[in-house]
Amino acid sequence: AETHFHNFVVQAKSVKRLCNTHNIITVNGQYPGPTLELRNGDTLVVKVQNKAKYNVTIHWHGIRQMRTAWADGPEFVTQCPIRPGGAYTYRFTIQGQEGTLWWHAHSSWLRATVYGALIIHPKQGSSYPFPTIPNHEATILLGEWWNANPIDVINQARKTGAAPNISDAYTINGQPGDLYSCSSQDTVIIPVNSSETSLLRVINSALNQQLFFTIANHNLTVVAVDASYTKPFTTSVIMLGPGQTTDVLLTADQPPSRYYIAARAYASAQNAPFDNTTTTAILQYTNTNTNTSIKPLLPNLPAYNDTPTATAFTTRLRSPAKALVPATVDESLFFTVGLGLNPCSKGQTCQGPNGTRFTASMNNVSFVLPSTFSILQAHHQGVNGVFTVDFPAAPPLQFDYTGNVSRTLWSPVTGTKLYKLQYGSSVQIVLQGTSIFTTENHPVHLHGYDFYVVGEGFGNFNAKTDTAKFNLVDPPMRNTVGVPVGGWAVIRFVADNPGVWLMHCHLDVHITWGLATAFIVENGVGELQTLESPPLDLPQC
Ligand code: C2O
Repeated sequence: AETHFHNFVVQAKSVKRLCNTHNIITVNGQYPGPTLELRNGDTLVVKVQNKAKYNVTIHWHGIRQMRTAWADGPEFVTQCPIRPGGAYTYRFTIQGQEGTLWWHAHSSWLRATVYGALIIHPKQGSSYPFPTIPNHEATILLGEWWNANPIDVINQARKTGAAPNISDAYTINGQPGDLYSCSSQDTVIIPVNSSETSLLRVINSALNQQLFFTIANHNLTVVAVDASYTKPFTTSVIMLGPGQTTDVLLTADQPPSRYYIAARAYASAQNAPFDNTTTTAILQYTNTNTNTSIKPLLPNLPAYNDTPTATAFTTRLRSPAKALVPATVDESLFFTVGLGLNPCSKGQTCQGPNGTRFTASMNNVSFVLPSTFSILQAHHQGVNGVFTVDFPAAPPLQFDYTGNVSRTLWSPVTGTKLYKLQYGSSVQIVLQGTSIFTTENHPVHLHGYDFYVVGEGFGNFNAKTDTAKFNLVDPPMRNTVGVPVGGWAVIRFVADNPGVWLMHCHLDVHITWGLATAFIVENGVGELQTLESPPLDLPQC
């Protein structure tokens, strides 16, 4: 195993997009940021220096961080932010994970431009368990672009209580592509050779959109999601929520030409602003004399509300072999996830629906990040008053979660409420979507763990009939699960990683509104069992 050292300098840089020049925050002047590649078993050491004017932290999305919770990165959860002029070195080892993950800023909306791929190759001497070993690899980061400064966009929304402005473009590797103005000449080209196979690592790094992804005239063989291998299956379209990754094999078996690679929103929500645009890159056959002025063929993309296609994709995912799913559960949790509207505080004017303010909650708790300590630091040092451990195991009120019910049923309390898990316990969480304000999709991400998705469905979860249908044999393993719009998903994992672990909706607008909680995983005597000591350069608040 090797140790890889990297320097990340967070700095402003001016880039041209959609006909204008914009000043954005980048890592090392790159947008998207640098791709990190290493092998399962290697150690990564990344020194992050903040030369920008905003606080920043970096999160290594999907890395298990076994006993290295200090390196996880969410602001005010495992560390205080790195102030302008400051630095912090993240250090962690890849233990058993292979495939495609990514890293991103975990501070306000900085991740709009501060993100990149994190690729974990098989251990030295071993190879992919795929039906075909790929000749080439390419990384496809799907993103969202704002002409305005994304930090201003979210600060404005926080102030007014309204929904933030939607983005101005979707992007592939930072480029909107051919179909947007002034973007053609920078459209990303992915070269392939006839009859060869490529491994495409597709990452949804968009802030607020689930995305359909497809390539004209080509099939995709899915081989992994969220850095866990899957039983291979072939499809023409995949769907990814923000935070999710999907590895696909693509064989260049079509007449040599140019084909569009395309992504656009799977919005699915009622009442949500829907952006009807499509980002494209070009799959170009290069071993023959492909005429590079041919207009590429556009694929058929599902409609923005095509839930059957999204469901058909996610329910086909399976672990490759019999999985080690916990057969019994020590902790059975039921968490509602959803949006709501709060009354505007006295003397303020709010610009949410009917003069209200948007909110979001899990089990009626709207999560608030602390500001004087990170939760992990406060817990480690025994500082009181930073958080409480009274997050409820079930919602305080039962009702028809996905029906048309009165908004007065639900008015979230705010707080930094955590749930304590006994180290080593097996945990099941039912994630139940609600329709208080609107029926929305929620890609829920758990830090520090991979989990099995043992079931998903529509309507209200039924403990009896739905539990009987769980897949406890070969469910897919993920770090981010899409709770179906107007439905539920159930996850299981063993709490074998001590620390403080955030769980949240990966739509950044929803985390802003409080759709989050966190777990403390520790042993019975209150210690963070065998967690390493904090690094000496850990930022203080
Ligand atoms: Cu991808 Cu809490 O993050």
